[in-house]
Amino acid sequence: MKLVGVGIGPGDSQLMTYKAVLMINEAKYVFVPESKGKSLAYEIAKPYLIDKEVIFLETPMGQDNKERYKDYAKKIFEMTGDDISVFLTLGDSSVYSTFTYISKEFKKLGGEVEFIPGITSFSAAASVLNIPLIEKGEKMIVCDSLDGVNLINIDTVVILKTVEKEKLIERLEKEGFYYYYVKRCTQFGEEIISDKEKILDDRDYLSLIVAKRSEEDWFTL
Ligand SMILES: C[S@@+](CC[C@H](N)C(=O)[O-])C[C@H]1O[C@@H](n2cnc3c(N)ncnc32)[C@H](O)[C@@H]1O
Repeated sequence: MKLVGVGIGPGDSQLMTYKAVLMINEAKYVFVPESKGKSLAYEIAKPYLIDKEVIFLETPMGQDNKERYKDYAKKIFEMTGDDISVFLTLGDSSVYSTFTYISKEFKKLGGEVEFIPGITSFSAAASVLNIPLIEKGEKMIVCDSLDGVNLINIDTVVILKTVEKEKLIERLEKEGFYYYYVKRCTQFGEEIISDKEKILDDRDYLSLIVAKRSEEDWFTL
C-alpha cells in the first residue's frame, strides 16, 4: 500500500511533468483536494485523468484542516489496499502541501509514501515576471511569514500565503526590497501587481510575493 504525492505544477496543465502523468496512469485511485465543490487541482490534471477513478476530498483553502487529514489518510489507506494511489497537490508536493500532513498520517497507519516533485508556484512566478530568482553567490528565502526572519544577507524573498500583506510589505520596504505580487501564475486570471494599494486590496489565496534587493532585476518587466 503506497500513497504517492504528485506535484502537478502551478496551473498550466502543460507544466505537469511526464513522471506525474505516468504516476497518475499507474494509480488505482486519484485523490484530489477540493474546496467548496471546486477543485483547481482537478482542472489542472483533467487532461490526464481520462478513465481514472477520482475521489474528491474537501480541504478548504487557507484553513486548518489537520483533523480532516487524519480521517482522509485512514480513508485512503483502506481504499488503496495493496495498490498504489496518488494524491494531487498544486506546485511541488513537498512545499507547503496538504500532502505533507496526509503522508505523515498515512505512514502512522503503516503505509508507504513517495513524493513526486512538481514545478513550484514561485518558479512559475519567476517565469511570469521574466526574471532570474537567484544567481550565483546570492541567498534566497522561501517563507509564509517574515516573523523572526533576519533578512540582512538575503537577496531574494519569496512569500507564499500572503495573508498579512500590510505587515509583510512594510517590512520589505523598511529593509530596502523591491517587490511584486503575482497571482494565479500560469492560470486563468494571472496578474502581476506592483501598486501597493492594489496589492493590499487583493484577497486571492493563490498569490505570492517576490521581492529582490536590486531594482535592476526587474529590467525585463
Ligand atoms: C498550500 S500552498 C501550496 C504551494 C505549492 N505546493 C507550491 O509548490 O508552490 C498555497 C500557496 O501557494 C501559492 N500558490 C500556489 N499556486 C500559485 C499560483 N499559481 N500563483 C500564485 N501563487 C500560488 C500561494 O501563495 C498559495 O497561498
